Amino acid sequence: MGSIAKDPREDVIQAWYMDDSDADQRLPHHREPKEFVSLDKLAELGVLSWRLDADNYETDEELKKIRAARGYSYMDFCEVCPEKLPNYEEKIKNFFEEHLHTDEEIRYCVAGSGYFDVRDANDGWIRVWVKKGGMIVLPAGIYHRFTLDSSNYIKAMRLFVGDPIWTPYNRPHDHLPARFSRQDLLTTSPLLRNCKEFTKSMADKRGHGSILKSEALKKYILETSVYPREHEQLKELTQASFDKYKIVSLMGVPQDEAQFLSMFLKIMNAKKTMEIGVFTGYSLLATALALPEDGKIVAIDPDRDAYEVGLPYIKKAGVEHKIQFIQSEALPVLEELLTNGKGEGTFDFIFIDADKENYLKYHEMVLKLVKVGGVIGYDNTLWFGTVAISEDDPMPQGLKALRGIVRNINSFLANDPRIELAHLSIGDGLTLGRRLY
Ligand SMILES: C[S@@+](CC[C@H](N)C(=O)[O-])C[C@H]1O[C@@H](n2cnc3c(N)ncnc32)[C@H](O)[C@@H]1O
Repeated sequence: MGSIAKDPREDVIQAWYMDDSDADQRLPHHREPKEFVSLDKLAELGVLSWRLDADNYETDEELKKIRAARGYSYMDFCEVCPEKLPNYEEKIKNFFEEHLHTDEEIRYCVAGSGYFDVRDANDGWIRVWVKKGGMIVLPAGIYHRFTLDSSNYIKAMRLFVGDPIWTPYNRPHDHLPARFSRQDLLTTSPLLRNCKEFTKSMADKRGHGSILKSEALKKYILETSVYPREHEQLKELTQASFDKYKIVSLMGVPQDEAQFLSMFLKIMNAKKTMEIGVFTGYSLLATALALPEDGKIVAIDPDRDAYEVGLPYIKKAGVEHKIQFIQSEALPVLEELLTNGKGEGTFDFIFIDADKENYLKYHEMVLKLVKVGGVIGYDNTLWFGTVAISEDDPMPQGLKALRGIVRNINSFLANDPRIELAHLSIGDGLTLGRRLY
């Protein structure tokens, strides 16, 4: 029987649950019996890790790749030991005070070692021991602290996206968006599990809901061209979704994508559309506002509770009469529309924004439901850029799980002669397929 290869990261990064003892913080503080935590479990908490060549960090191609992929433009070094760190006693005390940052904390240990303690979903302490060659990323909003171990020395490379902000927010600082996002991610309803994974991954990246790698550019587009023209009830629906679902509400299509879809529907004179995956109805309301008074939208989602969060704003906007909400998984509804023959070739536009695993099944069915010349929109087809990086590149678990599926969808659509295709880098990637025959 072959043996399972050991993860090389485990030589330089180990994690375990901590005991409650007040003994010297530089001791390992294992629970009794010892309870180790896998690097995959850390990744679920958003703590990412790599093993790198610390003797050659100046020329290390892998480090260069990580920096390029994650936008870590800033770099410096920090040495922690009584001789090298000014105000050592005070600094070391501050490092061990439980705190969070509103940005990622990225540390690459090039000499020595140290303990990064992070809180898990149930507020337990996990001690992450990082030694020479270990690099970790703590996500924004995670409560954590740092201490040297008994070797009393660490030299760490610090990386950052743009100009560094090191401000620690000592616990409690739960009102910060970076904080409640995390809490919410770890506790929302099981019905949203698929999408929660997706959104969690979004939260681990910079620039929610957008393929743009610059937060500033996204902000610029939204503030200049989108927010000033956004319908009042779309704004209110966004707020209500956020109040209820916190960061999970970012599943809704971003406003610039909805603005584009709205104009597109008007240009094509769409009258009858379908939406697979409604959530609280941001894209649904944008669509309903774009259709003529006698327009019709078949909107399908098993989650009626989420739809009802947005419904008051749909009513207030005066467009509820255009919507037929069907609380169901999409497949049986599509089957029914095809079996009774009433649906075939009748839709001008169909928007697919639900479970990626079924996209290609939806594709086969909606291709019959949409008119010749009608358009199908497939959302999230750039999957936060992961479609274009190697499977072995570091990426949040939630993204990794569906990356291959999204790549298959893209290849299939690109080679499908039944549609004309445009793959847009708006939102998280939107593919438009126009039925040719
Ligand atoms: C990304 S959200 C949709 C966001 C929405 N288009 C918007 O802009 O607000 C995905 C939705 O797909 C729904 N969903 C998941 N699996 C589904 C399925 N099999 N059939 C229909 N909807 C599904 C989820 O309940 C969730 O509300």
